[in-house]
Amino acid sequence: MEQIKDVLISISGKLLDSPTADMDSVIAEVLDECRDFLGADRLSCLPLDHAIVENWRHHESIGVGIPPVQKHIPASVVLAYRALIEKGEVVCSDDSPALLDLAMQLQQERPLRHILVPISAMGKPWGLMACANFTSTGRFDDDFVHSATLLGNIIASSIARVTHYEQLRRSQQEVAARNRRIIGERERERRNIARDLHDDFSQRLASLGIEMGLAAAVCDDKSRSMIAQCAKGLSEITRDIQQLSRHLHPVVIERVGLHAAIESHVKQVSERSQIAMSIELDRTVVFDDEVSLHIYRIIQESLSNVVKHADASHVDVILRRIKDKKAELLIEDNGVGFSPHGIEMNSPSLGLQSMVERSELIGATMSIESTGVKPGVRISLILVCEEE
Ligand SMILES: Nc1ncnc2c1ncn2[C@@H]1O[C@H](COP(=O)(O)OP(=O)(O)OP(=O)(O)O)[C@@H](O)[C@H]1O
Ligand SMILES: [Mg+2]
Repeated sequence: MEQIKDVLISISGKLLDSPTADMDSVIAEVLDECRDFLGADRLSCLPLDHAIVENWRHHESIGVGIPPVQKHIPASVVLAYRALIEKGEVVCSDDSPALLDLAMQLQQERPLRHILVPISAMGKPWGLMACANFTSTGRFDDDFVHSATLLGNIIASSIARVTHYEQLRRSQQEVAARNRRIIGERERERRNIARDLHDDFSQRLASLGIEMGLAAAVCDDKSRSMIAQCAKGLSEITRDIQQLSRHLHPVVIERVGLHAAIESHVKQVSERSQIAMSIELDRTVVFDDEVSLHIYRIIQESLSNVVKHADASHVDVILRRIKDKKAELLIEDNGVGFSPHGIEMNSPSLGLQSMVERSELIGATMSIESTGVKPGVRISLILVCEEE
C-alpha cells in the first residue's frame, strides 16, 4: 500500500507539473512507470468518449518484445470493446476467456491474460485501463485491480484536462477567426457604402446644385434668394456626405499615406473637441495598406473614447520605431482613467473589444494601462513594421 502511495504521488506530480503541450510524452512516461509497477506486459488507456470507430486514439506502454496494438483496428473489434467499457465493470479473461479471442484481433499474438478495468475522470466514467500479459504469468488479482483503478483514474483525469484545454483553444481560435472575418467583411461593406456615397450621391447632389444655379439665373429676385437658401442647404448636405464617406472608408490613407491621414484626423478631433493633442509620427515607420487601415481605426476609436469618456485636457499620439522591424503606437490621455477590470466582458460596448481584435489581426501586442486611480489611459501597441 505504501508503495502505491509513492507511485501515485510521483505520477500525480509529473502530470500536474508538465505543460499541456508535452502531455502525450509525459503520459507515455507515466504509463511505463505504472506498467513496471503493475507487472503487466502491455498497458493501455482507452477512452469511452473518444471511442470513435475511426482513429480510436489511446495511450499505451509496451514491454520489450511485446506486440503493440495494430494501427487499424477493425470496426467490429472497436465496437465490441466499446460495449464492454460501457458496462463499467471489470472484465478479466480468467472469468471470461472470450476476451482473449477479442484481444487476439488487436495483434497477431494471443495474450495469456487480459483484463479491462473501468476508470473515471473527475467523477465520471472515462474509459478503461486495459492490461495484457503475453509472457508474464502473474494473475490480475484484487490488489492489481485496485492499483490499476487508482493509477488509471489519475491518468484519465490528466488526459481529460488536456482534451478540455485543446477544445477550449480550438474554440478560441474559431472565435478569433470568425471575428477576423467579421472585421474584414465590415471594412468591405463600409468601403462599398463610402464609394456609393461618393460616386453616386455626391455626383447627383452636385448636378442638382448646377441645375439650381441655372434656375436661379432665370427667375425673379424673390425666387432667387429662396433658391440660394436651398443651394446653401444642399452644399452643407454634400459636405456632410463627403465627411461621412471619408469616415466610413478613409481613402485618404491610400492617397496620402497613414501619417498624413492620422495627422488630419487628430487635428479634426482636436478642433472639434477642444482637447489639445500633440502628435509625433516617425515617417520611416511604414505598413501595408491593410495594416494601416487597422491602425487608423484603432486611433479613431481611442480618440473617440477620449472625447466621450476621459474628460481629458491633453492627448499624445506617438508612432515610433523601437527596433529594426518593431514600432510602438502610443495613445495617452490625462483624463479620469478607468479600471480595465471593471469593464464587463459581456458589456454591449464594442470599441475596446474591436481594438483588441484588430490588433490581433495585424499581429500586434496591445496593452491598455489605467488604474482608475492615477489619471489617464495609456494604450500601447507593439507593431511589426517594414525595415527602415
Ligand atoms: N480614454 C478613456 N478614458 C476613460 N474611460 C475610458 C476610456 N476609454 C474607454 N473608457 C471606458 O471603457 C468603456 C468601454 O469602452 P468602449 O470603447 O469599449 O465602449 P464605449 O465607448 O462605451 O462604446 P462604443 O465604443 O461601443 O461606442 C467606456 O464605456 C468607458 O467607461
Ligand atoms: Mg468606444
